[in-house]
Amino acid sequence: MKIPSHIAIIMDGNGRWARSKGLARHKGHQAGVQALTGVVRKAGELGVSSLTVYAFSTENWKRPGSEVSFLMSLFQQTLLRQARDLFENNTKVRVIGRRAQLSRGVLKAINQIEELTAKNEGLELNIAFNYGGRAEILDMVRRVVDDLAKGRQDINQLTEEDLQQYLYNPAIPEIELLIRTGGEQRLSNYLLWQSAYAELYFCEKYWPDFTGEDLIKAINSFQIRSRRFGGLEETGDQ
Ligand code: IPE
Ligand code: IPE
Ligand code: MG
Repeated sequence: MKIPSHIAIIMDGNGRWARSKGLARHKGHQAGVQALTGVVRKAGELGVSSLTVYAFSTENWKRPGSEVSFLMSLFQQTLLRQARDLFENNTKVRVIGRRAQLSRGVLKAINQIEELTAKNEGLELNIAFNYGGRAEILDMVRRVVDDLAKGRQDINQLTEEDLQQYLYNPAIPEIELLIRTGGEQRLSNYLLWQSAYAELYFCEKYWPDFTGEDLIKAINSFQIRSRRFGGLEETGDQ
């Protein structure tokens, strides 16, 4: 059976998971990191090529300052603590999103893990942090317009493949399967360009409860979908 080469995940429901257990929201975020560790391992074992996870959106700055600072330091610590394991598992880590608003400490942790794992050839793990699909498209438009003005692109020759080169990580392939945990059925500004033909899978479980077995269930659901990309099913009909 076909394993989707690129899976994207909206890891939602950490706060509700914590509340359901009478805990503070930040406990849910900590438990969410544990869940991610298990899912990354399972994705690698299954032979998934790329996994892109949503860790902090450009809209998440609207949350109380205390939660935002917690998420920033949790991200920084997680990158530092997991760097060696990820490196040894041959995982290649990239962080996508706007870097301008991030602190020096967070930027340093990002650069370190990207450099350390740059030559790895196993699972490609993209972490969307301070990421917004519209922000990515706007940043892409700014750079394209600049290149057009400087004559590096010809507006009449511009293709979708050319535009793709302006994404935060142009090497990210088309998403095949997009999973959202936590019961909400929306994209929340995630990977708008890359998910044009993604198969969507919504799961009621809160992210901290999501396991490798749940990942397999999502993949099983993907495997029985009929992907037509606007064409027709191959039934032999003329
Ligand atoms: C997802 O969980 C993690 C982030 C957005 C950082 P939430 O924090 O959104 O959890 P809920 O949706 O409030 O339960
Ligand atoms: C999406 O979850 C962002 C992340 C998982 C990082 P949100 O909890 O921020 O999304 P909404 O507010 O429910 O749309
Ligand atoms: Mg949420």
